[in-house]
Amino acid sequence: MTYDVKRIRAQYPALAGPTVYLDGAAGTQSPEEVIEAIAGAYRVGTSNGGGQFATSARADGFAQAARDAVADLVGGVAGGVVLGPNMTTLTYRFARTLADSWTAGDNIVVSRLDHDANIRPWVQLAGRSGVDVRWAEVDLADGTLPFAQYDGLVDERTRLVAVTAASNVLGTRPDVRSITDLARSRGALSYVDGVHSTAHGVTDIGAYGCDFYATSAYKWVGPHVGCVIADPLFLAGLRPEKLASSSNEVPDRFEWGTPSYQNFAGVAAAVDHLAGLDDEARGTRRERLVASLGAAEKHEQRLLGDLLAGLAADERITVYGRAPHRTSTVYFTVAGLTPQQVAAGLAAASVNVWDGHNYAYEVTAALGIRDAGSAVRVSLDHYTDDADVARLLEALELVGRSA
Ligand SMILES: Cc1ncc(COP(=O)(O)O)c(C=O)c1O
Repeated sequence: MTYDVKRIRAQYPALAGPTVYLDGAAGTQSPEEVIEAIAGAYRVGTSNGGGQFATSARADGFAQAARDAVADLVGGVAGGVVLGPNMTTLTYRFARTLADSWTAGDNIVVSRLDHDANIRPWVQLAGRSGVDVRWAEVDLADGTLPFAQYDGLVDERTRLVAVTAASNVLGTRPDVRSITDLARSRGALSYVDGVHSTAHGVTDIGAYGCDFYATSAYKWVGPHVGCVIADPLFLAGLRPEKLASSSNEVPDRFEWGTPSYQNFAGVAAAVDHLAGLDDEARGTRRERLVASLGAAEKHEQRLLGDLLAGLAADERITVYGRAPHRTSTVYFTVAGLTPQQVAAGLAAASVNVWDGHNYAYEVTAALGIRDAGSAVRVSLDHYTDDADVARLLEALELVGRSA
């Protein structure tokens, strides 16, 4: 296994400039092969799919290649990969579909740790059907989502359990498998939000044991395409609202309107790129993904250790979230400064970080920080290097002291 971050960075045009990109949890940079795949799809001639001519067949090919690639990325099958504009839109679509069978007296379980996209669609649909909403709470001391509480939350009337595979602010990776197993044993479906987690390690939806897994390609070097992955046989039993004239096949029946075929070309290229992060990885694309994303996670976790040590040395800084299993995303405040001031100070030093709730709307309120601008979020990605972390810590040292 080799992980040559210098070689990897050289493939990203944006990383050639002076800006330090520590904002990947809101969308990563893209390598040349993704940019070229999308540009190339336009350059060669574009068309809608389903026609009798070669350009149209090529568009269909982009969609199929994207499904194949996403299936390899998450350990699913291509026939169960639903593609759409983004995760939020697809989650509303599935919420509407599933809620059709909910009745008053049923309940659903959401978690306070989740991004709002895996909370609000379910809560709003529950509200329309007289369905009770139950909340799994975060342990605010360490940012974990204790599994033990689910035993009291999930019962025979639970229709759905929605939970994140990783928090997009605290980085926490909950015990998803125990939660999905419990849900299934009591007759509930599980919907796992993998938008943050997919970029930061190996995903195996079989190991998660979930009914649905959602992800979004722009978080893992691809374009703006959302994906929901499920068992195609299970999807065949669902009846989403759709146009009478559009395909009733699976997964097409969940895909509304004309998609971005050119972006689909970028999705496949992004997965190919991720599979090559470890340049000694061999075998099928899935095998190379497992090796490469495993190596990338080790790299990120090493940088995370350095970053946390650097932050701990500054007495002004409070870090939120200390879960033992977590991604390399760090959320913190600096005493005496608003998160917005910190992010603006870092921006002046060409270090890109996010401030605010980042749609982790519930957990920031539970932590009591949302009204004060929440916190600063730093994301370490597979292309982050030691120099990036050093630049951040140097710039942070000066923020608020140099004026
Ligand atoms: C954990 C998590 N879930 C869901 C979403 C929403 O994804 P999308 O932008 O594809 O709708 C995001 C986006 O930031 C996210 O970080």
